[in-house]
Amino acid sequence: MAKGVDIIDLGVGDPDLPTPSHIIEAVKKASEVPANHRYPSYSGMNDFKYAVAEWYKNRFGVDLDPGKEVVSLIGSKEGIAHLPLAFINPGDLAMIPTPAYPVYHTATLFAGGESFFMPLLSENHFLPDLDSIPSHLADRAKLMFINYPNNPTAAVADLEFFNRVVEFANKKRILICHDAAYTEMAFDGYRPPSFMEADGGKEVGIEFHSLSKTYNMTGWRIGFAVGNSEAINGLGVIKSNIDSGVFQAVQIAGIEALRNKQTCVKDMKEIYTRRRDLMVNGLREAGFELESPKATFYLWIRVPKGYTSALLATRLLEKGVVVTPGNGFGEPGEGYFRMALTQKRDKLAEAIERIKAMSL
Ligand SMILES: Cc1ncc(COP(=O)(O)O)c(C=O)c1O
Repeated sequence: MAKGVDIIDLGVGDPDLPTPSHIIEAVKKASEVPANHRYPSYSGMNDFKYAVAEWYKNRFGVDLDPGKEVVSLIGSKEGIAHLPLAFINPGDLAMIPTPAYPVYHTATLFAGGESFFMPLLSENHFLPDLDSIPSHLADRAKLMFINYPNNPTAAVADLEFFNRVVEFANKKRILICHDAAYTEMAFDGYRPPSFMEADGGKEVGIEFHSLSKTYNMTGWRIGFAVGNSEAINGLGVIKSNIDSGVFQAVQIAGIEALRNKQTCVKDMKEIYTRRRDLMVNGLREAGFELESPKATFYLWIRVPKGYTSALLATRLLEKGVVVTPGNGFGEPGEGYFRMALTQKRDKLAEAIERIKAMSL
């Protein structure tokens, strides 16, 4: 970029679309109120927690106690990163998918724990194979991270899979941490489930949610966790020793986002559907092998024969197209690369032209 090359960045999962204007208006007003300039409550404003519970009821049909089963987060990453400090002692195991969002593993390391990696393979539809986990290792595990719709593979999971995870959690007495950052970014009428909808999901699980992708609010830093009250409380205890909650004006904007009509979410999904179709068709014409994702704004694409993930990403970078090599998310990601649909359609079309012009 410094050399003046026109770079098309499809590397990072950060929406290029602006936050909807009704949310911006809410923060403008709230930021002028002196009461909002003070320390917020650690676990979140009551009104925010009620808005989360109402949203869960409307969206998933799940009942939550806003007092005990909801906590606000400074983005879901913050909650994911702090959770292992509450439940992992040195030497404990956490079960972590791979490839995956890197924070599950690093947060486990920070707590002194070890990761047991569960490979996500295409032959298992990128779901972990629970039956292949050695029993003696599962016995040592305190928690398991899962994430559907999934980053980076864009795979989805149904309730039947979540029910099997609940069964596993009950048998092995482990906490399930479901990262649900992408449940609202789904296409063609598909509605991803919450882990809380599984039978007994709330008893064994905590679910992390984010306003970042749903409402184009990555820069605002607001999310929440819901689920098992002891898990929520444990996370809350860690947080109360580290941070002091989310700026109230941002929580008020979050309430506006959750309670207002969800037209902006519908619009967002339509934009990504069109981008997805353009890019999937273009890449297939260019000879790449990939599935058209039902959810997330990621494409998970096999590299052509004779390439590694890194080599392909380097070749694309030389043409001014930034993608993420799959091995960066964990070793089973080798042989893939990830594209984020975070550019307008003309830029995506230009990226396809550049890719087609390469001799791969
Ligand atoms: C799978 C997954 N979880 C969590 C996050 C963190 O989102 P935030 O902290 O903005 O809520 C991301 C961000 O890219 C993600 O991809």
